[in-house]
Amino acid sequence: MRVAMIGTGYVGLVSGACFSEFGTDVICVDKDETKIARLEDGIMPIYEPGLDVLVENNVKAGRLKFTTDLKVGVKDADAVFIAVGTPTRRGDGHADLSYVYAAAEEIAEAMDGFTVIVTKSTVPVGTGREVERIIRAKRPDAEFAVVSNPEFLREGSAIGDFMRPDRVVIGTTDERARDVMRDIYRPLYLIETPIVFTSRETSEMIKYAANTFLAAKITFINEIADLCEKVGADVHDVARGIGLDGRIGKKFLHPGPGYGGSCFPKDTLALVRTAQEHGSPLRIIETVVDVNAKRKKAMADRIISACGGSVAGKTIGILGLAFKPNTDDMRDAPSLDIIPALIKAGATVRAFDPEAMEEAQKLLGDIVYCDGAFETIEGADAMVVLTEWNEFRGMDLDRIKSTLKHPIVVDLRNVYEPGEMAEQGFSYTCVGRASIGG
Ligand code: UDX
Repeated sequence: MRVAMIGTGYVGLVSGACFSEFGTDVICVDKDETKIARLEDGIMPIYEPGLDVLVENNVKAGRLKFTTDLKVGVKDADAVFIAVGTPTRRGDGHADLSYVYAAAEEIAEAMDGFTVIVTKSTVPVGTGREVERIIRAKRPDAEFAVVSNPEFLREGSAIGDFMRPDRVVIGTTDERARDVMRDIYRPLYLIETPIVFTSRETSEMIKYAANTFLAAKITFINEIADLCEKVGADVHDVARGIGLDGRIGKKFLHPGPGYGGSCFPKDTLALVRTAQEHGSPLRIIETVVDVNAKRKKAMADRIISACGGSVAGKTIGILGLAFKPNTDDMRDAPSLDIIPALIKAGATVRAFDPEAMEEAQKLLGDIVYCDGAFETIEGADAMVVLTEWNEFRGMDLDRIKSTLKHPIVVDLRNVYEPGEMAEQGFSYTCVGRASIGG
């Protein structure tokens, strides 16, 4: 079995490395020469725990290769996965499919013998059909099938998610393609992973329905958190109390500054647009998009009010810039809304993130970048936790207090315990639980 993976972004690189770990011969293709050269030298383009070792081991074993030449990669492949980007198109919120279609054109020219072409990128319903049309137009006599196989991995735990998924979804009605896909995922049959075989359109829809549902679940608990603050309830106990109901489930009920990242913001917007165009609007998701965008902005006001109503002339130490821990990804991170708003309100911002500093500098520009958590809060008027990296959870509270100018902590990820913060004499603001002091 030979697999070609087109695109070495998050999904492509992790999937390629994991398939090779399954024992399949994989060749990863990317147009970016520098990226491929660096990958060949073992330098990862992204930070993802365990990825470097996985790549190194499989390259050594001869199962994982890299190339910039799509033709070379595709020629002998049984399956070609399209894992290129599908960013939000400027202006209309739709997914930009130009990279997917360009890949389809090139694959059509290069494929040889029966080939399964798999869309792994998140693509709107109907994209598989269009990919098939493009390839058929170029190669009327070729033997091929276009399959949808969405990826559900989370950044930061991508390898574990890929190797031990809750399920695998495969959209095709072509028998030969099913056999090829079964073969590729054979190791997951051994661990009894549910494999959902369905139509291509249904598979494409499953991915969007999953991501928009999760975005709605987060947004729900965020709004409940706001209400908890008003009525004197504790959102953590509410989340536990409802999450123990198997119909609701415990996961994705952690309140925070609003969801970000490479998937939820983009996919919610894209599905809203698709639904509107089909005259079947998804009003819940429209509201989710709106509420989440406003929430990120409102978080800056929460910080300002924790600082006594104004941050003009004050220094704010921000811990965490990435959209979540264990990644250097800054896409749609709440920090991108919150920090500019604080600067606009007259604050000086000092910031630290264990992995995202380079990315942050490109996007946030001129703030004070620090080397560690305590350096960031040195002499600051307030400390703000924006991303729940483990190293921010275990910080010594006495030392935080003596390092800050004022003992003000705004914890937008609820990593500290309000009772303990009160005992230590902090003015402590969190999400969905009683805040203290001020
Ligand atoms: C998500 C999906 O989980 C994954 O299945 C899909 O393939 C890609 O999108 P990812 O974006 O990597 O993965 O991160 P995830 O852990 O899902 O978090 C997304 C956002 O939601 C983050 O901003 C996170 O902070 C936020 N979140 C998540 C919460 O605010 N509360 C929660 O309870 C869970």
